[in-house]
Amino acid sequence: MKNVKVVAFNGSPRKDGNTASLLRRVLKVLEEEGIETELIQLAGETIHGCTACRACYDTKNERCVIEDDKVNEYVQKMKTADGIILGSPTYFSMMTPEMKALIDRTGYVARANNHLFKRKVGAAVVAVRRAGGIPTFDAINHYFLISQMIVPGSSYWNVGIGNKRGEVENDEEGMKTMEDLGRNMAWLIKKLKAE
Ligand SMILES: Cc1cc2nc3c(=O)[nH]c(=O)nc-3n(C[C@H](O)[C@H](O)[C@H](O)COP(=O)(O)O)c2cc1C
Repeated sequence: MKNVKVVAFNGSPRKDGNTASLLRRVLKVLEEEGIETELIQLAGETIHGCTACRACYDTKNERCVIEDDKVNEYVQKMKTADGIILGSPTYFSMMTPEMKALIDRTGYVARANNHLFKRKVGAAVVAVRRAGGIPTFDAINHYFLISQMIVPGSSYWNVGIGNKRGEVENDEEGMKTMEDLGRNMAWLIKKLKAE
């Protein structure tokens, strides 16, 4: 589909790990559906947390005043995309600090600028070894919902089980959940674009 794009962020500090495998499975389906995709892995990057300065509410220029990381670039990537996928491994029953920093900063800038991501399609994807995947999934979905975004479902909650790098590929149901998510996301985006 022309000019339709989904951007996915991997909040794991481990590049090309389980979260990346899950995200790639969703993106593969989106590509099959003719949607352009981009995967951004935060591994190796420093992303500062929000300092609560509220400058974004004063400037309203779609930027965070912290300029020495890539968050402002990511705000624009999200703004120009039709769909946003946020993926994270589970760390002590929650998302990684990298993903939380991305959420806090992009979320605040978006709210300060008349809800930049309003009515875009959002999906959370989570890797977990054993437990804590659902609180992580829920927390990411709260970001989409308060951003006035629209969240498609899948055949299960979007959580894949694995520990060592690549192990999640053995979670057949988890991988199938990612495929169904990709199909539902593509369906929803096409409906919204048809309007
Ligand atoms: C600091 C840390 C905390 C973790 N906490 C949890 C946890 O609370 N529950 C769990 O099931 N797995 C936990 N894990 C395991 C990871 O969620 C799991 O290995 C995941 O597949 C890693 O995904 P990645 O390869 O994309 O980094 C933790 C791993 C690390 C490094």
